[in-house]
Amino acid sequence: MKTLTFFLVAFLAISVSFGVDRNNFKTCDQSGFCNRLRKFKPEKSQYAVNLDTVIVHGSVLSAEVNTVDTSTEKKIILWRYALRLSALKDGTFRIEMDEADPLYPRYRTQLSLNGEPKGDSLKLVSNINGQLTVKNGQGHSVVITAEPLKFEFLDKKGDVAVVVNENSQLLVEPLKEKGKKAVENDDEGSLAVEAEDESAWSETFKSHHDSKPRGNEAVSIDISFPDADHVYGIPEHTDNFALKTTTDGEPYRLFNLDVFEYELNSRMAIYGAIPVMYSHGTKRSAGVFWHNSAETWVDVVNYAEGTVVSSLVNLVTGGQKRRVDARFMSESGVVDLFVFLGDKPADVFRQYITLTGVAPLPPKFSLAYHQSRWNYVDQADVRSVDEGFDTHDIPLDVIWLDIEYTDGKKYFTWDPIKFATPQDMVANLTAKGRKLVVIIDPHIKREAGYFVHEDATENGYYVKNKDGNDYEGWCWPGASSYLDYFNPVVSKYYSERYRFENFPGTSKDVHFWNDMNEPSVFNGPEITMPKDCRHYKPPQDGHEGLASYWEHRHVHNEYGLFFIRGTHEGSLQRADSKYRPFILTRAVFPGTQRYAAVWTGDNMAEWGHLAVTVPMCLSLAAAGVSFCGADVGGFFKYPEAELMTRWYQAGAFQPFFRAHSHIETKRREPWLYEPATTALLREAVRRRYALLDFWYTLFYEHSTKGLPVMRPLFQEFPDEEETFTIDDEYLLGANLLVRPVTEPGVNSVKVYLPGKESKTIWYDVDSYKAIPAAGYMHQEVNIGKIPVYQRGGSIIPRKERVRRSSALMADDPYTLVVALDVNKAAHGTLYIDDGETYEYRDSKYIYANIDYKNNELNYTIVNKNAKYPTRSWLERVVIAGIRNSPKSAKLTQGDKTTALQLTLHKGNDVLVVRKPGATMAASWTITFGY
Ligand SMILES: *[C@@H]1O[C@H](CO)[C@@H](O)[C@H](O)[C@H]1NC(C)=O
Ligand SMILES: *[C@@H]1O[C@H](CO)[C@@H](O)[C@H](O)[C@H]1NC(C)=O
Repeated sequence: MKTLTFFLVAFLAISVSFGVDRNNFKTCDQSGFCNRLRKFKPEKSQYAVNLDTVIVHGSVLSAEVNTVDTSTEKKIILWRYALRLSALKDGTFRIEMDEADPLYPRYRTQLSLNGEPKGDSLKLVSNINGQLTVKNGQGHSVVITAEPLKFEFLDKKGDVAVVVNENSQLLVEPLKEKGKKAVENDDEGSLAVEAEDESAWSETFKSHHDSKPRGNEAVSIDISFPDADHVYGIPEHTDNFALKTTTDGEPYRLFNLDVFEYELNSRMAIYGAIPVMYSHGTKRSAGVFWHNSAETWVDVVNYAEGTVVSSLVNLVTGGQKRRVDARFMSESGVVDLFVFLGDKPADVFRQYITLTGVAPLPPKFSLAYHQSRWNYVDQADVRSVDEGFDTHDIPLDVIWLDIEYTDGKKYFTWDPIKFATPQDMVANLTAKGRKLVVIIDPHIKREAGYFVHEDATENGYYVKNKDGNDYEGWCWPGASSYLDYFNPVVSKYYSERYRFENFPGTSKDVHFWNDMNEPSVFNGPEITMPKDCRHYKPPQDGHEGLASYWEHRHVHNEYGLFFIRGTHEGSLQRADSKYRPFILTRAVFPGTQRYAAVWTGDNMAEWGHLAVTVPMCLSLAAAGVSFCGADVGGFFKYPEAELMTRWYQAGAFQPFFRAHSHIETKRREPWLYEPATTALLREAVRRRYALLDFWYTLFYEHSTKGLPVMRPLFQEFPDEEETFTIDDEYLLGANLLVRPVTEPGVNSVKVYLPGKESKTIWYDVDSYKAIPAAGYMHQEVNIGKIPVYQRGGSIIPRKERVRRSSALMADDPYTLVVALDVNKAAHGTLYIDDGETYEYRDSKYIYANIDYKNNELNYTIVNKNAKYPTRSWLERVVIAGIRNSPKSAKLTQGDKTTALQLTLHKGNDVLVVRKPGATMAASWTITFGY
């Protein structure tokens, strides 16, 4: 939605220029631990495994690790740590390291894993010369060098795929009592980062003071990826998909922040933080997931990049040309690192999502077109927008209401004048199969008489400040407090607000938008909550004082996830878990995908912001968040016709497709442009609806297989080096290649068509013209053109009768587009269900394979006991790339056989089979005769 405008309007009026106020946000130098850790460059790691303590049991190797003072002959143990190395299913390893006996428990991230990861077997293979070798059940091994501590992860061939602590930057700063030194034996020597700088017990940024009651407690780790050409991931940033070397500037920052008018090509933190990184090269893919919810900075060094001095490259990599190193630095927590050994891109993406969970099948309407604005001002406005879509023959599934629908920014209420009869408004929408989404933010207005505020105050449900009183910040409602969702009682209370009786006017067709959940606090440090605020921690015996609560610093990046989990729970429970919730969130953390879709926040109506939607969503998709989109048209400023057109065309091929705009911008519903532009916007939206069943099938397959819906080209073509840095085009599933036009005034764009080696053929979806893959080509693009290509060898379902909403198209017939490969074969899938309930878990769905080969097309329902009696039927089959026309065709379904009509369009080798009429509720075969 929006950020600080409220305060900045006045300034903007004077200073015309747009752009982020960098002064509001820390650089690494201004962040105590980042500054401290970035300077930490020991020649040799001080950490060493005590080999006498090694135990291998089940899937876990455990051992004591010590930091050792090496400055003298006798080795003096400085500090003790507990190490666990676990082998997990699917070729994943996990390294955990905590203090053996910390002064207080250190925070462990709670919600990002989708349950406890499943263990694999782990065997100790050898223990010689200070090196331990263990092997998992899949044939990967780990070589642990005891001193200095180093982990080498070997692939099945025995090649080193990932190295941890190669650069000696493993670090766990021990918790100390103020005034005491953090060494057990401090006769001689001291920890490398022992020197207490000014920032150890308090820090100040601008006018904000952070009391740091536990002192320094940072953790860090370094990872090397031998043979890697590039690394990817760690969203959310506005940078390229392939990450850049950071030694010349700021590290990438992961800290959920509400950044007003964020800038492009930046490593600054924005709303989301997913500390997962993937490496890729022609030899393999690998990856790591740094499981930590505190503020985190990440340095990257790519030795193949021109900017890295070559002498350094040789020194560090021993002459290896290809290698990327990374380093994660977090303000608090423990060392908890998952290592993915791939070895293909699809494997590492799956390995990550196996840990954090897939996005469940979304309700179908949520994949259709959404219309939003800050704000549709009243019911009459909503009605006129709703009718406008009908008048102008543009499909629409959802209308959105931003914060102004509430009674004075009090969530779970309606403005009594402007939204006096929400039930009627919703009923009018649902009559056309449409839905309503309303916003619910985490800040609670501190107003006497507001039930949420009264309940929270009375019961102690708010997050506390450093002194233990209710924390008070400033947000949309003015003085606000924030529910402490970390407390299960509060979370339950919050979920219950979504019950129909607690939020009158809502029904199963009203869904939710959770914004500002970084959390955004207008008057807080970096526009968020102070790090020394206090969150709930389950009471445990003897835990008092600092051990009785978590600080916001520990949990910050996870706050928004706890919030949306409550929304998800509430949306389920209000209708007895019968309907699938739809939630949109701005804050992002690992695991977010289990509850919500994500949009990229407050972007701008500028070409660069349109272009960056692709790398941003690619990066989120690789990090588990497939349901991603950007505000179509741009949130700030006004998109002129060409930009608006290109943005609709791009949005129609991105997972979450919603137009949204800022309250001070000119209205821009599609019909407010010139008729020619309106026609183009209509066409873009209609193209989305024609492919809705394709999208729905992709999301179904994501929920069963865990692969990204939106994919980088190298996921499908991992050996093709040119694809490694392409992030202006992408694949939907494996088979639809999209290269949105994101440049103004062009009549042609460069498109890379991968798969030359495998003789891949691509078909322009507008003309069915076959284009053999040959790398880059020029595509002519008039203003109506969206460069989209279907991969030869695939079959894609369409619905050509576009109606007012997706619900009204449920029973409509299908067209199947068969694009033949060099072997004249093709394969596709189709998923069908009721679109909104969980009955599919009860076999009430159809999942079908569609295969073409040997002059035969089969539609085969693969789920046993499929109990979904769809009324949809087969209206048309289009076969592209056929060359020789068959003389006849017949349909066989059950014991019935029907002769079919064929038309060959010679110029482009396309065969059309008209009205086969088969029902999609049962398998069928079409046989072609020559
Ligand atoms: C609902 O639709 C009816 C009939 O078109 C109209 O009279 C009424 O004003 C609408 N109600 C709302 C709240 O928009
Ligand atoms: C279609 O199904 C039949 C019967 O199961 C099978 O013999 C044939 O190979 C299938 N053809 C294709 C193209 O899958």
